[in-house]
Order: sequence, then structure tokens, then C-alpha cells
Amino acid sequence: MDMEKLKIEGGNKLRGTVRVSGAKNSAVALIPATILADSPVVIDGLPNISDVQILSDLLQEIGGTVSLNENEIIVDPSRMISMPLPNGKVKKLRASYYLMGAMLGRFKKAVIGLPGGCHLGPRPIDQHIKGFEALGAQITNEQGAIYLRADELKGARIYLDVVSVGATINIMLAAVRAKGRTIIENAAKEPEIIDVATLLTSMGAKIKGAGTDVIRIDGVDSLHGCRHSIIPDRIEAGTYLILGAAMGEEVLIDNVIPLHLESLIAKLREMGISIESKDDQILVRGTDNLKPVDIKTLVYPGFPTDLQQPLTSLLTKANGSSIVTDTIYGARFKHIDELRRMSATIKVEGRSAIINGPSKLQGAKVRASDLRAGAALVVAGLMAEGITEVTGLEHIDRGYENLVDKLTGLGAVIWRESMSKQEIEQLQNS
Ligand code: EPU
Repeated sequence: MDMEKLKIEGGNKLRGTVRVSGAKNSAVALIPATILADSPVVIDGLPNISDVQILSDLLQEIGGTVSLNENEIIVDPSRMISMPLPNGKVKKLRASYYLMGAMLGRFKKAVIGLPGGCHLGPRPIDQHIKGFEALGAQITNEQGAIYLRADELKGARIYLDVVSVGATINIMLAAVRAKGRTIIENAAKEPEIIDVATLLTSMGAKIKGAGTDVIRIDGVDSLHGCRHSIIPDRIEAGTYLILGAAMGEEVLIDNVIPLHLESLIAKLREMGISIESKDDQILVRGTDNLKPVDIKTLVYPGFPTDLQQPLTSLLTKANGSSIVTDTIYGARFKHIDELRRMSATIKVEGRSAIINGPSKLQGAKVRASDLRAGAALVVAGLMAEGITEVTGLEHIDRGYENLVDKLTGLGAVIWRESMSKQEIEQLQNS
């Protein structure tokens, strides 16, 4: 197997324009949502990342006719069947849980292997299950796969005990084809939820209130094909904003919805970074005189947990101590050990990381344990003196389209290299 690592020569200033791709966390729900239609659905602006490829393969496994070009997918779902998917590719990404809601909605049954994805500590799906049960499904868990079956789906009032992006979308997917009205209370409000509701509405679904914490869905008998353009990826955009703040003379982020990034922009300004936003662009200028800040991750529109890790790298450069608290995933700190190898002074206490800056980061050999930890290490590598080597690239490839090309376009010195057999063995044994 050919495995690659990333090499970064740090310290180079960044300058130029970077274009943001379509949102990964929308894409992974939009693609399963096409199962609910009875004629072809076209989605454009998709990011060219491995999660999209895997979901596209899964739709073919259940009988869909799928054509995936670089950034556009055409799915003809008319001949799909309710094929059980207990093993195999479903386990490669956590978002395969959206196949449950979509297949339950269309076929009233589904068998889906328990989701894989990033290891951020426990990630239960009890709220998804609670929602499906309220709609009338019987659910069992057998040998690592979830079995769902319903004679019919009936609208219900569902109060989420935990505000969950995945549960909100998954219940919406099943409810659009249920009989009668479903009300999701204490729903998540992330922009990706609105994007999925927009696609479903174009398919003929009746949804009101997506983007607020009460969503009303009136079930319909059938849904039809349509064309949908995905929203830009706010987390990818945020990663480049952080990079611009760390190393940018002047970086223009293009194809972004600034409103989606208000919490990050506010924090960066508090740190002393200059940011101008207009329409679908954000201009960021870095500085070497950064103030420390405290951050607490929250559900949208609060500060996103997905940007906590890359921001931690930037905070190593701030003049003083900052505290980052993750209230969503209290153990999302696997990047910290790696940042320490690069000479950062950080300690973890419970759900918080305490960063004592400023440190001059030094290039080192580090490993990305999950997608956003990978982003954090790329930010750190670009800030550091000397060469940084990042392994675990498969995590980064799940969520960042053309990372190397985009960064090279900004003047970064970064490239991919094949790993030797010995390096691969070392990695697998560690
Ligand atoms: N939770 C429960 N029960 C549930 C569902 C969630 O207790 O049934 C808890 C989780 O353990 C967590 C919190 O609720 O503490 C929020 O989880 P949520 O369900 O909102 O997360 P998710 O839908 O599984 C999505 C993104 C994540 C992102 C989180 C939080 C996708 C595919 N993933 O996950 O993205 O961190 O929302 O915003 O949309 C990433 O992009 O790197 C990533 C991990």
C-alpha cells in the first residue's frame, strides 16, 4: 500500500487568494439524502475528498446509478434497494449514519454498520435512535450493526436531550417521508442543517424552521429529483483564516459566507488580527503581536469545536496564556502532545487546554490522529522553524480538498512524499 506523509518547510509568509470548497459536513448528509428521491438529483460544488467518494460508492452498492465528476454528483436513485450494509465501507466514516435516516425514510428498513470516523472520545447516537423510535421504527443493535424497521413512519414531537447536528439531520431525513407532522425541538442550528433542508425542499419536502431550534416537517408521499448547489465549507474557510492570521501578509479567502464564521472572526479580532469581510470574501492580515484569548466551544452560532484544534496552534504564538475549553468533545486534545513535540507549552486539565505563549515552534515528526488535529499540525508546521513531517494524512484527506495545491498557491512550502516500508511499519506499531 502506498502511504504518504506531508512535509512542510515552515516560516514562509503567505500571500494571495485561496478558494474555499463545498462543505464536507453538508456533503456527507446531502449525498445520502438523494436516496429519498425517485428521479435524478444533481449536487454541484462538492468537495473532492475521500468521504464524498466513499458515500458515492455506497450509493452504488445499494443499486444507485451514480456519476461523480470532480465536484458534481448525479444520482439516479430510482433502482435503489434496501440492501443491508453491516460491514465494509460504512465503517470508514461516521457520517454513514445518515444512511439510516434516508433508507428508513424511503424503504422503512435499513441495516447499517456502526459508524467509524474521527476518535474524539465517546460519540453516542442515542438521540438519533430516540428520534427514529418516536417515528415508529423498531431498532436493534446486532454484532456492531444497527437494524431499523417500521411498518409505517408516523410524524411525532421529538425533544432532543442533547443539541446534535447528526440527530437533527437524521430525524429530518426520515420524517420527510413519514405520515403527518414531525416537530423537532431543541434542534441544532448549524448552517449544514439549513443546506440539507434546502435540498429536501427542492425535492418536494415540506420543512419549516431549519436554522432555528424548532423544525416542523409535514411528511409527503414522494420526493423528486432536483439540482442543488452546496454551501461553502465554514471549517475549511476558518482553517485558512487561522493560517492567514498566523503567517499571512495578506490572504484573501474566497467563496465564504462570513456570517458562518462570526465567532471565529470576533476571537481573531480580539487577538489583534485585522480582518475585513465583504460579500463572499474575507481578507486577513497576520501580525507578530498577538494577544492571548480564552475560548469555549459551543453549538452554533458559538465557537465551533472543529476550529478549536487549529486555533490552539495559533495561540502558541500569543503573548501570554490562553485557555481553550471544549464543551462539545471534552477529550478532543490529541493534537496537544504533538504540539508539545514542536516545543509548545501546553497542559491539558479536564476539558481545557492551557497554552502558555509565546513559543517559537520547531519542526518535528508528528502524527495527525484525526481530521482537525491534522489541520492543527499543518498550521503549526507552517509557523515552525525548520521541517515538519505529518503522518496520518488519510485523516486530512477526508476533509481538505487539494490542501497542498491551495497552500502552495499562497506561497507555502509543502509537499507529499511516499513513506518507506520501514516508516509504515513503525507507524503501525506505535
Ligand atoms: N451526542 C449525544 N448523543 C447523540 C448525538 C450526539 O450525546 O445521539 C453528543 C456528542 O457526543 C457531542 C454532542 O452531542 O458531545 C454534539 O454532537 P453532534 O451530534 O452535534 O455531532 P455529529 O453530528 O456527530 C458533527 C460534525 C462534526 C462536528 C460536530 C459538532 C458531521 C459529519 N460531523 O458531528 O465534525 O465536530 O457535528 O459540531 O457533520 C469534523 O468535521 O471534523 C467533525 C468531527
